[in-house]
Amino acid sequence: MSAPLPRPHLRQIAAYDPGHDLTQLRARHGGLLCELGANENPLGPSPSALAAFERAAASVHRYPDPSGRALKAALAARHRHPEQGIVLGNGSHELLVLLARCFAGPGDQVLFSRFGFAVFPIAAALAGAEGMAAPAFPEEHPRAFGHDPQALADALSSRVRLLFIANPNNPTGSWLSLAEIEALLAHADPQTLVVVDEAYQEYVLEEEPRSAVALLSRFPQLVVTRTFSKAYGLAALRVGYLLAHPEVACWLERCRETFNVNQPAQEAALAALGDEAHLRVVREANARERERLAAGLSALGLEVHPSRANFLLVRFGEQAAAIGEALLARGIVLRPLMPYGLDAHLRVSVGRAEENERLLSALAELLR
Ligand SMILES: Cc1ncc(COP(=O)(O)O)c(C=O)c1O
Repeated sequence: MSAPLPRPHLRQIAAYDPGHDLTQLRARHGGLLCELGANENPLGPSPSALAAFERAAASVHRYPDPSGRALKAALAARHRHPEQGIVLGNGSHELLVLLARCFAGPGDQVLFSRFGFAVFPIAAALAGAEGMAAPAFPEEHPRAFGHDPQALADALSSRVRLLFIANPNNPTGSWLSLAEIEALLAHADPQTLVVVDEAYQEYVLEEEPRSAVALLSRFPQLVVTRTFSKAYGLAALRVGYLLAHPEVACWLERCRETFNVNQPAQEAALAALGDEAHLRVVREANARERERLAAGLSALGLEVHPSRANFLLVRFGEQAAAIGEALLARGIVLRPLMPYGLDAHLRVSVGRAEENERLLSALAELLR
């Protein structure tokens, strides 16, 4: 007897591939595991966020504030955006899926770039819509594997209900300028939601990519997603948010799960947002270490792609998989990119100085 099947459009979905079984690796290597595979913040969150989390843990027998009012008010002030235009999510991942489910369905298209963030096609499939990958810049182009704004513009039509742009993008580290995003918004059908996923925006210290938040007041179809999982160091707590036109936000509020962000997470995120000094330390450490790591990898003869985030896309060639395995055996985790079709590459998250040093020494041995 066979078990019941889900609806037909869900049967082809491949689950999100986290790269490795980290629970097993942690059990094997204990505290010595060097985790450079998940683009986390190696410095951790603000101490005041941890203290807020612990205080709130005393009330876990109570349901959380379903509207997340305090956190929304702080985010509204930070971004100078109306509170009614903010939606909180159980990580930004939840919001990406919610957006697709609310604004696209069977017969619609959801557009993203080839080598765009892996959740975009999953979100399209969950909505029952057709996921469409526009060609990215080819490897020999100076913006190798990055989103090609012309290809995205060419693929836009009234059938496209949602365009996902990760900026900077994971796993490529590449970015679009604010002018390029604005041109796409101007070109898109007004009924096409343009979702700019800014999970790594806090890490950007350079002129570009500038945040698309600046365009929100002019484009009602624009949605910007952010997360507390990266620069704020709260990946385990699962807090993300989006900024949108209040009417768009209102539809999402009606469709989301009522208690999607737990109270300790709300309190920790609020405290993290208030600790600007910690964020500054994190951003500067990342920029410094990213540059050092990129220089070290290049000195080993590896091709390192430009990045504005907290990770680097690195070409290892045919030996990429073997090197990834050899590093794993030494307790160093990088991210394989086979699911993206980038078999010759590995993604390296920027760690603490000593972790990056350990990776460079191990690679020097392996590549000798
Ligand atoms: C581009 C991008 N967007 C969104 C996310 C989801 O992050 P979270 O669900 O932790 O907020 C990630 C996580 O790696 C990411 O790389």
